[in-house]
Amino acid sequence: MKTPHRLRARVLALALGGLGLACDSEEAFPNLDELDQLRSLHTQTRQPPKDPTNRMDGVERAEKLGDLLFHDAGLSRCGTVSCQSCHDGEGRTVDTATAEGCDGKRTARNPPTVLNAAYNRWFMWDGRADRLWSQALMPLTHPDEMNSDAQVVAARLQGVEPYRTEYLALFGREPAAESGDALMANVGKVLAAYERTLVRVDAPFDEDVRRFLAAVDAGTAEEDPAYLGLKTFLRKGRCVVCHKGPALSDDLFHNIGVEDTGPGGGGQWATLETLLGSPFNAQGSYSDAPNGTDAMRLRTLRTQANQVEMEGAFRTPSLRNVALTAPYMHTGAQATLEEVVDFYNQGGGAAGTFVGRKTDTIVPLELSAEEKQALVELLKSMTGRPR
Ligand code: HEC
Ligand code: HEC
Repeated sequence: MKTPHRLRARVLALALGGLGLACDSEEAFPNLDELDQLRSLHTQTRQPPKDPTNRMDGVERAEKLGDLLFHDAGLSRCGTVSCQSCHDGEGRTVDTATAEGCDGKRTARNPPTVLNAAYNRWFMWDGRADRLWSQALMPLTHPDEMNSDAQVVAARLQGVEPYRTEYLALFGREPAAESGDALMANVGKVLAAYERTLVRVDAPFDEDVRRFLAAVDAGTAEEDPAYLGLKTFLRKGRCVVCHKGPALSDDLFHNIGVEDTGPGGGGQWATLETLLGSPFNAQGSYSDAPNGTDAMRLRTLRTQANQVEMEGAFRTPSLRNVALTAPYMHTGAQATLEEVVDFYNQGGGAAGTFVGRKTDTIVPLELSAEEKQALVELLKSMTGRPR
């Protein structure tokens, strides 16, 4: 007997649905790809990767010296600003859009947290430092931040104990006998050794993802309290396209259209030459592994540099501990996580309010009130416990 046309279409649709080919809205969450993404999201209990370009990394004595220096305003020219001034408290950041440096000057951007910074591949919103130790020299010498230089730093280290003794023990020379750039690189390395200990992982989020994965196996995914948040994060919100893996970042740069037409709005493209030309990068003469994989990554960056992709692009920040680090984005213009979710829901900033071309992934999302709420809850669950 001939199957009626309509019925045949339905049978076909059911068969395709069974193969996982049905359209997104009908497909059960998670599908196989999403399951893989979910599995890669949780736990980050391992130590941050070791930095071969910094031989002080993991050296306890260096960590201790770095701790002291991080908190010492005497390294600044004005004598009142330390790293801690802008990276303090639980969130290791300030709660204002920008922060105050020497002589009342203000930073151009929102200070990111230094928690978990040692997991990052690139530093600064525009990625203009490739190593945690070379990053440290930027605020140290920036006129709007600590306004310091090798002379100020050498005088401080030579004149104050236990700095002199500890420096001598770690590097085999008196601070005053060291050349300026070498001294600064070494100070960066002990600061980075300390920062590597500032780790907050293992959040309720990780437990939720683990429990959710078990619920998927048990066939009860839809009843799990994390269902809507995770589904929105992975599927309708597409957050996982960039905020992926255990750090909830792809370590890459994207233009998501955050309002900024000022001098810093050029993002990664505007500072690429600074990074590649720096004597303090992974392949420079102060690196302890100038031919390693980190140096290779720089060479790749140079050969693959693409203005359209890099202009107005900023680093995908980790979302771990994001509830502790308001306000948000490189400008600090978004005060709450609700505002951030609204921003994404609108498809990013309006044309003309930012530099360059917005990436295709950022489009209006049409999230319901429940989905927005679930996303905000999910973001809040990403706060890790102190070690
Ligand atoms: C006056 C405020 C201020 C001071 C002082 C300051 N910072 Fe920052 N810090 C910032 C700002 C603002 C940024 C982001 C700058 C940018 O991306 O353009 C930043 C970025 C960072 C980052 C990059 C984090 C990431 O995820 O990319 C690290 C690490 C850091 N600072 C460590 C330090 C250390 C170490 C010191 C002391 C030597 C220090 N900061 C002093 C304001 C400050
Ligand atoms: C195309 C890549 C991409 C996608 C997709 C994406 N993000 Fe982002 N996210 C970024 C980048 C890049 C920034 C930093 C942008 C800036 O400051 O200019 C950012 C910043 C953030 C921040 C601010 C963090 C901070 O410390 O200031 C939050 C929160 C955030 N994203 C959450 C989300 C959520 C929720 C979604 C899904 C609705 C999402 N992101 C989708 C790339 C992306």
